[in-house]
Amino acid sequence: MTDVHVEWQGKSQAMFEKMLQEVPEAVRDVFRGNLMGLLQQKSKEGVIFEDHVVEVVNEKVPEPFKSNILKAFSLMGGVDMNKVSEIIEKFSGGQESLISILHALQDQFGYCPAEALLLVSQKKGVFLSTLYRLVTSYQAFRTEPPRKYTVTVCNGTGCHVKGGGAVLRELEKKASGNGSQITLEKVRCLGCCDLSPALIINGQVYSGSEGQAKISELLGK
Ligand code: FES
Repeated sequence: MTDVHVEWQGKSQAMFEKMLQEVPEAVRDVFRGNLMGLLQQKSKEGVIFEDHVVEVVNEKVPEPFKSNILKAFSLMGGVDMNKVSEIIEKFSGGQESLISILHALQDQFGYCPAEALLLVSQKKGVFLSTLYRLVTSYQAFRTEPPRKYTVTVCNGTGCHVKGGGAVLRELEKKASGNGSQITLEKVRCLGCCDLSPALIINGQVYSGSEGQAKISELLGK
């Protein structure tokens, strides 16, 4: 197992988990044991550095998986897997603790990172697919890091009859595409119906036209 007497440096544990995601779930535990053994050899049973993980990928993983994994490493954010372990240990229950863990991950990282979900799946003995179903079913959770601006748009009836649909469509255009700086969320009521159509930009409430002007200003358009 990866959690006993192993010291990880930087993103090394997150990279290790990312590498294992390329392995079919049915044989992942076998690979985990083998690759862990290799990492411990390379680190001489000391601290495992990011370079050790990269070396294992280069030496043991065939193409095209190798290129995919190395590319994934280069795109990884700074997910501190020690923090993830702490969160999992804090909620000692079984499956009934999953929602609490997901909330804690969301609070810690601003989203539920894939490598964190994998560790939750292993430690709690639940299918990864179950966790993804939970994360994608609740609006409180995200699977990707938030972009620079988080815009929450009301999709409720009160806002809809006052032009909320047009505001939403406009924002969906702005939020689409890889280069967008906007993370768009939809909710049923923001609790400020007097501002209909209402939206929230990075925690600040606006009425529709005011909000759209603010977004144009932020995006420099
Ligand atoms: S219905 Fe939109 S804020 Fe209430």
